Amino acid sequence: MLNCRVVITRLASPLGCFQAARASTASAAQADTAPPKRQRPAKFEADGQSFVTDDKWNLSPAVIKLMERRLLQEQKNPLTLLKQRIVNHFHGKYRKPGGRSPLYAVCEQEPRVVSTFANFDSLLTPIDHVSRRSSDTYYVNEGHCLRAHTSAHQHKLMTQGLDNFLVVGDVYRRDEIDATHYPCFHQMEAVRLYSADELYQTRAGEELAVFEEIPDAERKPGKQERHTVDAVKALEIRLKSTLEDLSDALFGPECEKRWVDAYFPFTHPSYELEVKYEGKWLEVLGCGIMEQKLLESAGVTDKVGWAFGIGLERIAMVLYGVPDIRLFWSRDSGFLSQFEGLKPEDDVKYKPISAHPQVLFDISFWLPAGVAFDDMRADVCDVIRGAGGELIEQVKLSDEFENKKKGKNSQTYRIVYRSNEKALSKEEVNVVHKSIERELVEKFGVTMR
Ligand code: DAH
Repeated sequence: MLNCRVVITRLASPLGCFQAARASTASAAQADTAPPKRQRPAKFEADGQSFVTDDKWNLSPAVIKLMERRLLQEQKNPLTLLKQRIVNHFHGKYRKPGGRSPLYAVCEQEPRVVSTFANFDSLLTPIDHVSRRSSDTYYVNEGHCLRAHTSAHQHKLMTQGLDNFLVVGDVYRRDEIDATHYPCFHQMEAVRLYSADELYQTRAGEELAVFEEIPDAERKPGKQERHTVDAVKALEIRLKSTLEDLSDALFGPECEKRWVDAYFPFTHPSYELEVKYEGKWLEVLGCGIMEQKLLESAGVTDKVGWAFGIGLERIAMVLYGVPDIRLFWSRDSGFLSQFEGLKPEDDVKYKPISAHPQVLFDISFWLPAGVAFDDMRADVCDVIRGAGGELIEQVKLSDEFENKKKGKNSQTYRIVYRSNEKALSKEEVNVVHKSIERELVEKFGVTMR
């Protein structure tokens, strides 16, 4: 998910080249036969920006709908919990000198339609790179697309003067579709820039350089032309220890992880971190030492840096045991209720919900005189569980009030019935529901309302 496009270019094998060549021939052939034009609006508005569309437009109604949802603003969504957990980790561990404020600025409101300069060119993505194809990216017009990664904001934020930041948000790709890929997913990006003093933590009088100006210096597998070996080593140690600490904080130090060499146009050297999940290695992030050319074009002339991009769904799937990426989009309260009211640091494992539909019934009654709300709650739950057994998925107290005039207390519960074996009919649920009511009246003296 993170970079399936990168896999193709990274392969030095003839197969990799062949695949890329064949694909571009195919798209040229398509252009010749002029495919039917998609229905497109004249204008497209998103996040306070308005764009005139052109023939490059390829957004589907389905992807526009996904843009409207904004999962990271839903408190109950596990991705929101995870985002906050990672932000808390960074804020807790990395502070500005003096410790009063967090080191990393958090940017969550960047617009999702970005220029192709931001998404590709600023990041030094080659002009023929597969990720630029209309079959991979959602284009609004020739010069604008839906961000395909949070890296699209690196250049602008550095230009604005930020040295250390996290960028979080939804990103869009016309990717394959399976249990770990979805046209919209979420990423957390980080950039950390250092002056030589910050990188080496030198004392006054000590000099260690981050740049070496050697005429005709060549790029090597382990380093860029202008970087000193010391700079690369120091950056690599800092980058990897930052990410290993994060991984330990999320998965525990006993979780197996490994570093794999990678290729990204905007970092060199580049790496991916994989963690072992259910016996398989799963790629959870890409990172590397930032291309100096990218920093220079953003006006940063005296610093070096590292960056990483994490796939939030990938991490959340491992952390919470969510087996399918589509579940993050579920509105089913059987899913969402499992994450409701949790703190970001709470450990929770998702329990699979039934594929059959829910049936909702409410129960409202007056409490017998002298019974406290809390005591009644515990008794009601016992009765419901006893009578409803496996058919009860959730019980929620939805209303509770005191009627001063009548001197009576009332409670209402919403019961969610759902079977693992079959779709329940209203009639059969009603039989169970009536037996719950009866037991509450007979055992606890409540009066149904
Ligand atoms: N943008 C990359 C992707 O979506 C992930 C990534 C790799 C981000 C390396 C970075 C980085 O900041 O340095 O596949």
